[in-house]
Parts: sequence; structure tokens; C-alpha cells
Amino acid sequence: MTSLTQLSQAIHDAPRWHQPEQFQNSDEIKIIPQDHAALGAIVYGLDARKAQSGETIYKLKQALAQHLVLIFKQQTLDDLQYLAFATYFGAIFRPSADTPVLASQQENGVPPDVVPVSNAVGQGDYTGHGELTPHADHQWTPLPSFGSLLYAIELPKDGGKTSWINTIKAYDALDEETKAEIDQLQLITYNPFVRRQKTKDLNESNGYGESPLYRFKDQPILSHAYPHPLVRIHPESGRKALWLNTHTEVELVNYDDQAGSALIAKLRAHIQKPEFRYEHDWQIGDVVFWDNQATLHSRQPFPADQRRLLKRISLAGSRPF
Ligand code: OGA
Ligand code: MN
Repeated sequence: MTSLTQLSQAIHDAPRWHQPEQFQNSDEIKIIPQDHAALGAIVYGLDARKAQSGETIYKLKQALAQHLVLIFKQQTLDDLQYLAFATYFGAIFRPSADTPVLASQQENGVPPDVVPVSNAVGQGDYTGHGELTPHADHQWTPLPSFGSLLYAIELPKDGGKTSWINTIKAYDALDEETKAEIDQLQLITYNPFVRRQKTKDLNESNGYGESPLYRFKDQPILSHAYPHPLVRIHPESGRKALWLNTHTEVELVNYDDQAGSALIAKLRAHIQKPEFRYEHDWQIGDVVFWDNQATLHSRQPFPADQRRLLKRISLAGSRPF
């Protein structure tokens, strides 16, 4: 027989329902919303190595659509177990080779299924130890990720906390006039990894590199452009979310340069208000699973000489609407 890919192996090896000791008792699972925070629910009592019931996965999917971030505590997973659990919720995000993203491999242009996010040289140091500004994963692609998971394996003593922004709350808090002004607008988010390749501006401390905040029409276009709605509808809940990162190059379609850049700057200032944000204080063994369709996430810098290793799985999404 031919050898299996990592993903096929993960599904092949995954525990089955007829192995009672490997089957998660769903009565042990508690999903506790973080009522005091802008988003998120904590999931206690779930061992992601075990086979899960259909009811449990359905409940988790509903909880994710409602709370936008699920925090699973005290996990111990190898890559195959992690893949088997994550893919209950969707297919792995695999961009085409013409769309570079974080960790795209030289041989095939595609990232590995499980991406190490670390500051250890040569071991997944794609984002170094610097700040990552608020973004949605893969927003610049034709089919951005529906969600991603990060699993904490090694943590620095100082800094390196990750924050999530609830972009549904950010949209809801806009005044009616602004909502009416932006509801039908389309936004292009240019691919920061194409800029990095073209300019060779490899800023070790920031995976997303430096880029202008807005493209004016007299500036060259570096990457393919995929217009998506600035206000997108969450596919499960039907709620509207303001879908805009805070620091990479964007452009409103068919919009005046000055008016467009001013509108985007105003929305970006709004979206970063602390009331829409939850900062996660990582513990080893945490798996954080977020809905990438209605959140942004960012990371604080941390000292270069302290090791940090998380593993990320990104799940495929559909065309935003
Ligand atoms: C990512 C990311 C944040 C972090 O891997 O997509 O944004 O805290 N990581 O490392
Ligand atoms: Mn990210």
C-alpha cells in the first residue's frame, strides 16, 4: 500500500465509538461562556484525543458560532490527534500555490496541515517574537479560512498574549449613518506575503511585514485582488461583522482615495476599542479555536530569548457574503 498523508493517517488512527475507554462521555463536558468578556467560552472536561459524539460536535459548532472563540483546557495532543479533532469542524485550509500565506512551503507553495508558530530558529519561526497586529487569517485569499486553532506547547514568561476582537460587536456599535454608508461596500485586502516576496522586506520580528495601510490609485498593485464585503454576514448566525484588519494594505472598490482612506482609518480606530477585545492569558495545554469570519486576532511581542511554541491548524472557508 502507498504511504498515507498526515491527515489520512490521523483519520485512520483516530479512536472509534466502539472503543468505550476512548469515547468521550458528553456529560463531562461543560461549555462556560465568558460573560464578562467581549467574546469566548471555556470548554472544560473534553479530551480532544477521544472520539466525540455527534451531539458534542454539533453543540461545539453552535457554541463557536455564538461565542466566536472556544478555549479547550488541559489538552495533550500529538499532531495526528490534533488534526483528527480539528477536522470534525471542517477541511484543512489549502490555498493554491499562487496564493502565498504564512508557512507556505517552497516545494509546493502550500503550508503544512499543522503549522508550528514559534520563535525557535528554523523550527517554525515564521512570525518571530514581534507584535502581530489585528488580522483575520487568510483574509487576502479568494476563500479565507472559516476558523483556526492554536495549541499552546511552550510559553514565554513575559508577553506573547493573544487577543481576539469581536467584529460583530464592533459593527453593532457603529452609528446608523456609518452602517448605511458601509453596508454595501467591497474591500480588497492585499496579500502581505506577496509584498514580502517582492520587496524582500523580511522583517524577522513581524510575520506580516510592513505595508501601507491603504492603496491609493497611483500606487502599484502587487498581488491579486479579491474583493470581499466590508460588512459580512456570519453564515450560521446571520449577524453582521465588520471585516477589516487594522494594519495591512486595503482598498475600497470604486471609492475615492481620500474619502476611502479616511473611512478605513475611522473604522480601524473603532474596531480597536478595548470593549470589543478579549486578551487570552495562555496556559500550556490550551487549544483556542476561533471563528475567523467574525473576529480579528493579534499578539503581543515577547522577549527573543524566551521560547514560545504554538501549533496552528487553519480550516477552509467559503466565499464571504
Ligand atoms: C497565527 C497567529 C498568534 C499568536 O498563527 O495565525 O496569528 O499568538 N498567531 O502567535
Ligand atoms: Mn493569525
